[in-house]
Amino acid sequence: MAENSTKHDSASTLPGWGLDGIPYQSVDMAKVVGRDDLLYVVAGASFVEIASDLYTSNLIQYFEDDPEVVAWLDKHWQHEEIRHGNALKGYVQHVWPDFDWDAAYAAFFAEYSKLCTVEEFENTRGLEMVARCVVETGTATFYKALSAQADEPILAGIAARISAEEVGHYKYFYRYFLKYRTIEALGRFRVLGAVKRRVLEARQSDAESALWHAYATRHGKQADKADFKVVCKRLGKQLRLHYPFPMAVKMVLKPLELPASMLRLVQRPLAVASTWLMR
Ligand SMILES: [Fe+2]
Ligand SMILES: [Fe+2]
Repeated sequence: MAENSTKHDSASTLPGWGLDGIPYQSVDMAKVVGRDDLLYVVAGASFVEIASDLYTSNLIQYFEDDPEVVAWLDKHWQHEEIRHGNALKGYVQHVWPDFDWDAAYAAFFAEYSKLCTVEEFENTRGLEMVARCVVETGTATFYKALSAQADEPILAGIAARISAEEVGHYKYFYRYFLKYRTIEALGRFRVLGAVKRRVLEARQSDAESALWHAYATRHGKQADKADFKVVCKRLGKQLRLHYPFPMAVKMVLKPLELPASMLRLVQRPLAVASTWLMR
């Protein structure tokens, strides 16, 4: 299902460069000059990605006697998330060299690390895998929307490549979910509970905190919370125009394994409803 939900299924199928060799020198600067809104989004995303190693160790601990999961988290997942952060950071530093990324990140990290000391896991491993699927759905669809929204080709390319890797993460977490669903004999009702909890909790506060520190660093003493709220509203509106609601609904519903007839019945109305809910 997720396999068909994006044309960017694998970062390696995208022609040209990869996330380890981004041609920043080819950025079309005319398309980004004066676009501070993009700076906040790209810098904010880089903060959250780079800070992800804060909770990686907790997650590894949660699965400590499962060598397959631990090896993947440690050797692949963690590195890819950090690479996403570095790709975005590199873009920020190339396009907005006067932006003090290190200071902004330090301010973000000081706040984020306090909120993130104890990761709130689901109470079974299978349900935690469901929660992870929801998180990866969030990132895969966010970057897909950013890729569609960005009219600067290198940024659009970076976002498309990251989105593809987030879909890849989803597929791994989904596979591990299937393993633990069998072990834990998880019923659909409990899976739905985990989906609901994670969707409702969607870590808005992380994103908002990241955006704030990008914005506050840019504006210094002039940074104003009321103006920032206006900026956030505008950013949300722009992103929603390109947000792949059907892809999000498909990915979020997948762990429920609804019968095909029921899936057909709920997918479209849910995609439409989520469009409205996010207004
Ligand atoms: Fe990521
Ligand atoms: Fe991811």
